[in-house]
Amino acid sequence: MRFITYFYPYMRILFLLSILSVLMFSACTKKNLDTSVLSPDDKVQVHFSLSEQGEPRYDVYKKGKTIIKTSKLGFQTTTFDYTKGFTIEDAVSRDFSEVWKPVWGQQQEVKNEYRELTVKLKNSEGKLLNIIFRAFNDGVGFRYEFPSVKETGNEELIILDEMTEFRQTADHTTWWTPGCWDNDEYPYTESEISKIDVTYFLGEYPYSNVTSIPEIQGVNTPVTMKTKSGDYISIHEAALVNFPGMSLSVDINNFTFRSNLAEKELKRGVKAEVQLPFKTPWRTVQIAENAGDLTLSYLIYNLNEPNVLENTDWIKPMKYMGIWWEMNVGKSDWSKASGKHGATTENAKYYIDFCAENRIEGLLIEGWNTGWENWTDDDREGIFDFKTPYSDFDLKGVVEYAREKGVEIIGHHETAAAVETYERHMDAAYDLYEKLGIKSVKTGYVGKILNYRHYEQEMVNHYNKTMMETAKHRIMLDIHEPIKQTGLSRTYPNLMGGEGMRGQEFNAWSDGNKPSHNVILPFTRMLAGPMDFTPGIFDLKLEKYKSSVTKVAGFDARDDAKPPVVSRVYSTLAHQLGLYVVFYSPIQMAADLPENYEGNAAFQFIKDVAVDWEWSKVIDAEIASHIVTVRKEKGAERWFIGGITGDKSKEAVLSFDFLPKNKTFKAILYRDGAKTEMVKNPTAYEIEEFEVKSDTKRTILMKPAGGFAISIIE
Ligand code: NOJ
Ligand code: CA
Repeated sequence: MRFITYFYPYMRILFLLSILSVLMFSACTKKNLDTSVLSPDDKVQVHFSLSEQGEPRYDVYKKGKTIIKTSKLGFQTTTFDYTKGFTIEDAVSRDFSEVWKPVWGQQQEVKNEYRELTVKLKNSEGKLLNIIFRAFNDGVGFRYEFPSVKETGNEELIILDEMTEFRQTADHTTWWTPGCWDNDEYPYTESEISKIDVTYFLGEYPYSNVTSIPEIQGVNTPVTMKTKSGDYISIHEAALVNFPGMSLSVDINNFTFRSNLAEKELKRGVKAEVQLPFKTPWRTVQIAENAGDLTLSYLIYNLNEPNVLENTDWIKPMKYMGIWWEMNVGKSDWSKASGKHGATTENAKYYIDFCAENRIEGLLIEGWNTGWENWTDDDREGIFDFKTPYSDFDLKGVVEYAREKGVEIIGHHETAAAVETYERHMDAAYDLYEKLGIKSVKTGYVGKILNYRHYEQEMVNHYNKTMMETAKHRIMLDIHEPIKQTGLSRTYPNLMGGEGMRGQEFNAWSDGNKPSHNVILPFTRMLAGPMDFTPGIFDLKLEKYKSSVTKVAGFDARDDAKPPVVSRVYSTLAHQLGLYVVFYSPIQMAADLPENYEGNAAFQFIKDVAVDWEWSKVIDAEIASHIVTVRKEKGAERWFIGGITGDKSKEAVLSFDFLPKNKTFKAILYRDGAKTEMVKNPTAYEIEEFEVKSDTKRTILMKPAGGFAISIIE
């Protein structure tokens, strides 16, 4: 008997059950095949079965507990119903283990270890379908494979619907954003599965101009749940290539999620058109016993193909500033016609000098190219050519000035969601940047995409094309209003992450993000990949800009009985510092204006903090409450700790046992002070220096929407 079976007696029961089920369904199979697979640590199990009608199904267990109840698999296509009438032709297993080194990441080495089961199905008409399951210690992934033309006699497959279900065992607490085929910039809602209802986000909801919400009960992924017994489950997808993004329909009575692929805007009813042979993206279920472990799971990257770029020397994580926040708060504007143009040569030089003096490696410049004044809601095709600078912006001169000062310029392409125009200009635009020596570009897709939905198959291919084309030009890419990340950065590490969430910008011109928002993101959106959230706002009340900051046309403002809400950031300054460690991104913005950093001692932390990591650990975390993370800088004896809270205060209990033994280090702590208060006094903080050793213990009080940051750099 195996050691592990001794400790997990329920494994024996499971084993017997799976034998039994194989026997039960042997009527459908040619031989007695094992259709279960266990993770390398024997704790996670996926089990495949066929119903009496030959319907493919699966279930998932962790340590004997059901995580996913028997759930359906399959597709509807124009030519064939891939949901029933199957028999099992074969079931093949294999083990896999490797260690790979990401070009950048939360850790410098990643273990990719799983057991795989491929179930080969056939129906009476000879149609073939393979389903490949991988059981990892931190969850499962599975994908469908439609075998090649020769075997099926089918050239093209037109997919009308995917039937994949994720049936939950009970009415778990869920953190969700609406199932939307056009937008991910929503606040999170916490509710039971049975209470999921997106009505609030329809109709009168502000910023819903970019909305394709197909149903009242639906969510986007990653969607994360906590069970009554304290397990954490998150559903998402990996390696999204040539297929629509997956939203989930929710059957609130049966606690069941079901794939709801983004539909084509111009071919209503059609979800995907593919050529055989074809493999779908992986459907993923991440499972963790504590919230912190969930944030460090590499399952989604592990399901992606290894790096295909031969040389990656040009890919460099960095901190950056931007001619950006000043437009968001209304001090300046993207368009020159506004009379307060932000991207002028003079302003760019002012920022470059500041970056150079403060060890900030990059500067993003938005609004440098003509076209912004021609932007209307429905006439956006052709307004930008991505190459003509405004007359008050000397593109070449600015890039040269930056080079002399050792600062990298980050280019900007706002597409205005006119994708056909962007595709026409893309190659020339990247070429221009490459020739000038601009090594990064931030792209944007504001508004309703003309002719497409943000997450339909064509747009997935468009986003992936920008990733591959920028790679050819040795350009790093940061996508705003992107398709969700699904780990493709493993294959194309020039994809440095992106937005795909309600970021800091909403604090500048909307009713803002709730304090809980930042303590939900690490357990939901961040599981998909790096977040360009843009932390580091020091002027939190935005009082200097009150005359120009939008009086929010939000819910409260619409109701005349209530005073208008004026934008501001609902967090303490120490919280803003904590974000640099808690939120993972290989590019981290110092988002505020130079004048708001000048002379503020807390800016030292932003100057010091690293962006690329040897290892990362979560010391303490609970979704929607708090998270405390420690990371060691890659290749340096430097450690950084960050903590943030939601709307309640919390004590962080720290031990420094990760430090080398018998050595004393200096720690600099930036924390909420006695007088710090999120609404009235958010900018108050205290700095403290103290000695730390591996046996030091320390507690730190984080105020509501508060936090702290520690650097250990000497
Ligand atoms: C939306 C992006 O999220 C924001 O960062 C950018 O400034 C605007 N688009 C304009 O391109
Ligand atoms: Ca955005």
